[in-house]
Amino acid sequence: MRVLGIETSCDETGVALYDTEHGLLADALYSQIAMHADFGGVVPELASRDHTRKLLPLIQQVLDDARLSRGDLDGIAYTAGPGLVGALMVGATTAHGLARALDLPVLGVHHMEGHLLAPMLEADPPAFPFVALLVSGGHTQLVAVKGLGDYRLLGESVDDAAGEAFDKAAKMLELPYPGGPQVAKLAESGDPGRFRFPRPMTDRPGLDFSFSGLKTHTLTTARALREAGELDDQGRADIARAFEDAVVDTLVIKCRRALDETGLKRLVVAGGVSANRRLRERLDAELTKRRARAYYPRGRFCTDNGAMIAYVGAQRLLAGERDADAMRAVPRWPL
Ligand code: KG4
Ligand code: ZN
Repeated sequence: MRVLGIETSCDETGVALYDTEHGLLADALYSQIAMHADFGGVVPELASRDHTRKLLPLIQQVLDDARLSRGDLDGIAYTAGPGLVGALMVGATTAHGLARALDLPVLGVHHMEGHLLAPMLEADPPAFPFVALLVSGGHTQLVAVKGLGDYRLLGESVDDAAGEAFDKAAKMLELPYPGGPQVAKLAESGDPGRFRFPRPMTDRPGLDFSFSGLKTHTLTTARALREAGELDDQGRADIARAFEDAVVDTLVIKCRRALDETGLKRLVVAGGVSANRRLRERLDAELTKRRARAYYPRGRFCTDNGAMIAYVGAQRLLAGERDADAMRAVPRWPL
């Protein structure tokens, strides 16, 4: 079954073609980051308009790349949520319009399920069951995954998501949006011994997270350095390093705990923050010690993309799932 996948939940227009027999045939991505960077974050109305401009050309591009035409498609999948409602509606209406015109089955899929299963697009995918750490700009969750659609939430952030904390810390360090990669880069020249930030909620049992306190800690540290006239490049790098170490440590501690509690040996790490190099290094080292293994999507499938949506859509369409007549755009939607 050949499925066209469409992702428009936030600030990336992603389109891909996935074939249940031959795997990923093509994928294309247009990032709006440069446009939103001037505003320090995503402007929803601009996002929707830009998706409208870019979506159809990208669909044509993946078809051309795969040397296929619309008539070769067997189904269409799109991100139905969670996300920005206007942005979601662009993908949803386009998917339903195309499906109606081509007389194809169409299905709205969950954005976080896309992230969760993105490592399935790699050459050596994880087998079920596994624990998944979903770390993006909007979510920080630990999920026990038994199979497609069989998900049990083990823990989640009670306030900010890890990626959101990275983005806010970046602003405090006067770095552009999106902050995660920028903070990580700055942290490379930071001294890990200068500051020690707290590891929130690791001193008590449970698998929930909290990252809003770290934000305050970053702000007060930056302010104190500024007043002392020490918020120079080195000072900012030292703060970035302390912040990144605290987030990474916290995530690693909770992943270890989740594997212990479930008795599982496979960990999937997905969502934008899974691109973080230090997180990967620390997790790999910890898991090797326990004869366990972490699975990650390739770099460009860590953040939002159409391939993960085409993949999930293909699995579910193949199983006979379809949208009823109405398109769906669900801004808040638990996994
Ligand atoms: O999954 P994603 O593209 O969008 C959402 O669904 O939210 O994740 C974007 C988030 C942003 O907060 C960004 O700062 C963060 O992922 N991010 C990173 C890195 N690359 C992206 N955070 C830390 N280190 C990175 N290398
Ligand atoms: Zn995402």
